[in-house]
Amino acid sequence: MKKEKNNSELMDKIVSLCKRRGFIFPGSEIYGGLANSFDYGPLGVELKNNIKNIWWNRFVHQRDDMVGIDAALIMNPKVWEASGHLKEFSDPLVECEKCKRRFRADHIDPDYEKNKSFNKKIKCPDCGGKLSEPRQFNLMLKTFLGTIEDSASTVYFRPETAQAMFVDFKNVLDTTRRKLPFGIAQIGKAFRNEVTPGNFIFRTREFEQMEIEYFIKEEEWEKVFEYWQKEMWDWTIEDLGIKKENLYDCECEAANRAHYSKKTIDIEYDFPFSRSELYGLAYRTDFDLKNHFAEPPYEDAESGEKLYPHVIEPTFGVDRSVLAVLCDSYVEEKERIVLKLKPKLAPYKVAVFPLLKNKPELVNKATEVYHQLKKNFNVAFDDRGNIGKRYYSQDEIGTPFCVTIDFETLENDDVTVRDRDTMKQERVKISDLSKKISEYLNE
Ligand code: GAP
Repeated sequence: MKKEKNNSELMDKIVSLCKRRGFIFPGSEIYGGLANSFDYGPLGVELKNNIKNIWWNRFVHQRDDMVGIDAALIMNPKVWEASGHLKEFSDPLVECEKCKRRFRADHIDPDYEKNKSFNKKIKCPDCGGKLSEPRQFNLMLKTFLGTIEDSASTVYFRPETAQAMFVDFKNVLDTTRRKLPFGIAQIGKAFRNEVTPGNFIFRTREFEQMEIEYFIKEEEWEKVFEYWQKEMWDWTIEDLGIKKENLYDCECEAANRAHYSKKTIDIEYDFPFSRSELYGLAYRTDFDLKNHFAEPPYEDAESGEKLYPHVIEPTFGVDRSVLAVLCDSYVEEKERIVLKLKPKLAPYKVAVFPLLKNKPELVNKATEVYHQLKKNFNVAFDDRGNIGKRYYSQDEIGTPFCVTIDFETLENDDVTVRDRDTMKQERVKISDLSKKISEYLNE
């Protein structure tokens, strides 16, 4: 059962903060935008890169059973024929006969999947006009490769990063001599011609995924599925800092599962607009490898048995991770707005302020501390307005520490360190600053 929670005011505040502070801007804005596309600004790219780097570290570098790849976005069209995407990767679409707007049948008729038919009593949500019968609409984004624009040169932007892990399976195996079970991971862009993009960066036509294809023997699938389900929860709570009470497991009914999946669990998050899919976990069986390889691509080293490995796929949307992190960490207190981000996710780890802008000795010392910290962290420098305003400005973008250089600093070589969450201040020797911040970041 979906719990509908529409908190559009909160969503508006987050969108506005993202624009105001340089996290996320509407794409091509000076030309009127482009159909719900977004650009990550100077702070957004830091947050997004932190998420991707922590994910890669956790699931690739820290494990002995995982390797990574970075494949081309455009693959041979035969990939999409074999994977079933050309035939199956579509959404049911209805069109208003009056205003010509198109909608996803399953979005405006909640019983569409169950009944396998569209309720004719439902009218156009925009103008009340009559809606057409549903038609299947393929979601892959087309383009042409080369100088001739005809069907022979038609190619598709990948709708999931996953297929490269299957297509490259043999190359990875031959070059790394991996034994089952093992996984291939990838982070990269995917493209879908979504019928109704919306809800800020939740559903866009160009987005990023972090995906793992974990190859196993068939008999292990249930155990491995459960293992990855826990791993996904642990990542979301431990690394993204998302509150457990905002997360849910939701098993997809057969009618809602992708064509390749025998079991799918969505991890859902209470977004301000509704509880919706954050991540997915699917048992893809041997569907993909069987479709791509005429011969079994794996040989068991001990038994010599040739087989098609089965696949458990944990998949994580990068942009939905960013959105969930922003929603979960946004707090309004009496006098301030704070993004209570996990320190390791914060765009800036520390901000350095000279107490007074017009005292060159303070500004020089602050600049020195700034450059010293910059060797290890992404650091902000601010000498505008008063200290209180500077603190609040950093709170709003989630900077965990603010360091103030004052007259005592010139005497004792120590600074005031102010903690974002508790707002408590302590004196720390400049020589201990980097160590203290590093310890805090590793918590
Ligand atoms: N390889 C499996 C796969 O692509 P999916 O559930 O279609 O499965 C995986 O997509 C994840 O990608 C989703 O859980 C979501 O986080 C993200 N995602 C999917 N479509 C998206 C879109 N249009 N905009 C932003 N993120 C999207």
